[in-house]
Amino acid sequence: MTVESAHSGTPQARRPSAGAEEPGEPPLAGGAVPLLGHGLQLVRDPVGFLAGLRDHGDVLRLKLGPKTVYAVTTPELTGAVALSPDYVVDGPLWESLRGLLGEQGVATTNGPLHQRQRRDMQPAFRLAALQGYGPVMEEEVYSLVERWRSGETIDVTAESFRVTPRIATRCLMRGTYTDTRADRVSAALTTLFSGMYQRMVVPLGPLYRLPLPANRAFNQALADFHRLADEIIAERRASGQKPDDLLTVLLEAKDENGDPIGEQEIHDQVVAIAVAGNETLGSTVMSLLRVFTEHPEQASLIHDEVKTVVGDRPVGFEDVDKLTHTRNVVVETIRLYPAVWILMHRAAADTVLGGYRIPAGADVVYSPYAIQCDPRSYQRHLEFDPDRWLPERAKDVPKFAMIPFSVGNRKCPGDHFSMVVLTLIAAVVASTYRFEQAPGSDIRPRIGITLRPRRLLLKAIPR
Ligand code: HEM
Repeated sequence: MTVESAHSGTPQARRPSAGAEEPGEPPLAGGAVPLLGHGLQLVRDPVGFLAGLRDHGDVLRLKLGPKTVYAVTTPELTGAVALSPDYVVDGPLWESLRGLLGEQGVATTNGPLHQRQRRDMQPAFRLAALQGYGPVMEEEVYSLVERWRSGETIDVTAESFRVTPRIATRCLMRGTYTDTRADRVSAALTTLFSGMYQRMVVPLGPLYRLPLPANRAFNQALADFHRLADEIIAERRASGQKPDDLLTVLLEAKDENGDPIGEQEIHDQVVAIAVAGNETLGSTVMSLLRVFTEHPEQASLIHDEVKTVVGDRPVGFEDVDKLTHTRNVVVETIRLYPAVWILMHRAAADTVLGGYRIPAGADVVYSPYAIQCDPRSYQRHLEFDPDRWLPERAKDVPKFAMIPFSVGNRKCPGDHFSMVVLTLIAAVVASTYRFEQAPGSDIRPRIGITLRPRRLLLKAIPR
């Protein structure tokens, strides 16, 4: 189960041809201010700013502090950047991630090391492995709805970020996962992700070394996250067990000479996977619950589908493929609220994109959010319409206009895993409860490296 738009034909980021007319520089986007450039807009209203760029051109120049970065605004050019071997993960976002999370985790490595790490991880995300995770996923999702029986107001952030690390870690790293540890992961990630976003759009390094409360909180969260990774690794080693999971794969991985990989790589890999998997999945669960309150008719349709397909027994892993409307609600949620809403890759060589020259070393930014909410690709683009994913309509979605998990060699390895978890959560939650927003919610987007509602408080009313 994956999410991509159909259509064939692959665009290219091509190298400039010798002798041909020199391609020009793309235009500068409007609104840059001295010192911060467009950084201010990317802090104040980043989603609106990035989405609005499409009206000014297919390729634009932006100023982030003293740096020039380039933005692409069409699905074709976004696909071209994501698929081109001339674009790598480097630039302010990745430098900041490497500095903070480690140099050797799969999300930030390039070249042969990255290829080997992806190969190593692959078996833990195959369908056969996913089937093995089924019982843990079912148990966690049912214990989530059980927790809500009390009728108390639900703090959706806390609940989403409790259940998703539990599922990801119990499935992929088979650890025991206490609530205290889940709370630590959740708290650390929230602080880390907003801090990392600021460091990306306002890359003024010395500012972040000042002894300010925000910097101290950020450093503490970071230290705790690294400690958590060490605890997970030490516990597994102390257990003497080697279950068939991702952690065993990482602990047993060999380098290109057939030697065991170093301790640093193991640590960085656990951190990279925990960071990449938890915040994205947790944010999407929040958006899903937001959708259930704003579109109660969709929650009811899911309830009806579960009744028809599953009947009165509990929903299981093997039902997920048959719950097609439920899946389409999940896909439409990810279209309108993609957790990874901004990405930046670096040109490793001179390339030409959309007729403009992008010099080697330049950073190119693109936004899955802007692409997935583009009226040129989607009719009634801001309307929540899960039926646009019915096969007869989905075929009209332009290629690369739906890329929540990206494409190419950096494509998310957790895409199928996430779709199964999200569909299971949607089916179980919507068939058990109706939801009403409770006072105190603030659904404006909280902008970090991921996108999610700021604060969502709900009442769960049993069906
Ligand atoms: C990479 C999205 C869940 C692990 C990515 C990328 C995207 C993405 C867009 C590409 C980043 C780039 O272009 O550099 C999402 C979304 C998720 C999700 C929307 C949930 C709704 C997960 C889960 C895991 C995971 C559950 C694992 C437990 C990773 C890793 C990478 C990655 C390790 C780095 C891959 C690489 O650079 O080769 N994800 N992800 N993700 N994701 Fe996910």
